[in-house]
Order: sequence, then structure tokens, then C-alpha cells
Amino acid sequence: MGNFEFDGQKYKAASGLQKEWGTRIIAELSITGSETILDLGCGDGILTKKLANLVPEGKVLGIDASKGMIETAKELEGYNLSFAVQDINDLPFSNEFDLIFSNAALHWVKNHEMLLHNCYRALKSGGVIRFNFAGDGNCSNFYEIVHEVMNYPSYRTDFNDFVWPWFMPRIREYEKLLNHQEFKELRCWEENADRNFKTKDDMVKWIDQPSIVPFLEFLPKEKQSGFRDEVVNRMVDKTIQPDGTCFETFRRINVFARK
Ligand SMILES: C[S@@+](CC[C@H](N)C(=O)[O-])C[C@H]1O[C@@H](n2cnc3c(N)ncnc32)[C@H](O)[C@@H]1O
Repeated sequence: MGNFEFDGQKYKAASGLQKEWGTRIIAELSITGSETILDLGCGDGILTKKLANLVPEGKVLGIDASKGMIETAKELEGYNLSFAVQDINDLPFSNEFDLIFSNAALHWVKNHEMLLHNCYRALKSGGVIRFNFAGDGNCSNFYEIVHEVMNYPSYRTDFNDFVWPWFMPRIREYEKLLNHQEFKELRCWEENADRNFKTKDDMVKWIDQPSIVPFLEFLPKEKQSGFRDEVVNRMVDKTIQPDGTCFETFRRINVFARK
């Protein structure tokens, strides 16, 4: 699967939602202060930095496939915090981490069987994974509209070879995948995080960075802004509420497991 290039600075300004989820999960972690932590798909590094603040005697590595994200994240590097451009599909680690954390990133990864296998290998004995990513039913308005616009006669052939960028499984499907692995203390649960964006501009920022990026990368330059504007306008029309907020479905899968 190809990876996508994001604008780390724009993402930082548009990702209040992701930061809200991640901050809550970090607050619930049991951390003693000397752990070694890996953050998969760290993006702009804001959450990775929060993890580093919790482990003054430990070490945190954030990885992401997007150079634009890592460039932004590197501004936060410190004595116990570093970042690297690295594909999650190609994890090279073995017996290194007490915690593998990931927020709002793993629905971009298609092969979770391999991912879980590689995470198991990367953990120290007793180490844990804690993931939160999108599951079935996520962003139903955006997906419906983007599918429809992709099918307009003016865009249809451009998307002939397009591969849908996300894996958003049902919870039962994911439980089966987890059970295939050697982890202990498996827990996997769904969360309904449906939300009203405060303003339509807040929703548009979220569409622009990161949701629409995989689709625009597939179009010739001269068609990108027309496609983007059509999706944005239709999304606003479809989701705007009488109070000016915009509604979208957000369904999450949470995973905890110990080696
Ligand atoms: C929505 S952002 C989440 C960033 C951050 N974890 C947060 O919660 O703000 C998803 C990130 O996953 C990264 N990503 C997607 N597929 C990846 C892959 N195969 N390898 C590494 N990073 C990947 C993207 O580049 C992007 O930065």
C-alpha cells in the first residue's frame, strides 16, 4: 500500500478531535516513569510528547511514514523523545518496548495480522499494546459523499485503480485477529465517538487534513480543487444542523493486550 504525504503544521491545527481521544487514553495508562514507548503513526508528535513527559527516566520513539508529519514532530524532540520516518508495515524492532501506543492511525494499515505479529516481537516480555483506531461505521457521511463524487463522470476513470485507503473492521472481526496472536490479557472494545463539529470550518479543516488527502493524490493537479470543493460543499449541506454545528459518525476500536 502506498503511504500518503501530510502537512504536519496544518494537521496540528486541524486535529483537536484526535488529540482529545489520545489525551484521554494517555491519562488512563499505567506508567511508572521509566518505560520505553513506541508511538505508531505519531503524526505531528503532540501526543508522543505527552508520553515522553510521563517517562522522565524512559524513552519514547514516534514513527510515521509522512516526512511532512515527522518534520513538524521533530521540533518537539528532547533528551528522551525522538522521531523517525518509518513505515508501520515494516517494523524492525525486537524485545525493545514496554508500551506500543497508537492513536487514530492504524486504520491506515491494512494488514493487522502482520502488524500484531510485529508488535508482539517488538515488545519486551510483559509489555503492552494500547491502540485506538477507526472501526466499522466511522465517518459514514464523508464516505458516502466521497464515493458519490468519485463516481461523477468527470472523475470516474481517474479512480479506476484506486484502492480504498482504510481498514475499519467490525469488532468481532478484530477480536478474531487478536485471538490468533500469542498475546495475554486481550481486551478489545468499541466506542461511539460521534460528534458535532462546533462550526463548519472545523469540519472542513478535518476533511482537508487528513481525510481527503488520499483522494486528491490520485487526481491530476488541475482536477484537485474542483473535487475537494464538491466534497466539502456536499458535506456541509448534508451534515449541517440548525445550530450551525456539523454532525459526523466516529466509531472507534480500542485494543489492549499484554505479551
Ligand atoms: C490521523 S494521523 C494521527 C496522528 C497522531 N497519532 C494523532 O493522534 O494526532 C494518522 C497518521 O498515521 C500515519 N500513517 C498512516 N499509515 C502509516 C504507515 N503505514 N506507516 C507509518 N505511519 C502511517 C500518517 O502519516 C498520519 O500521520
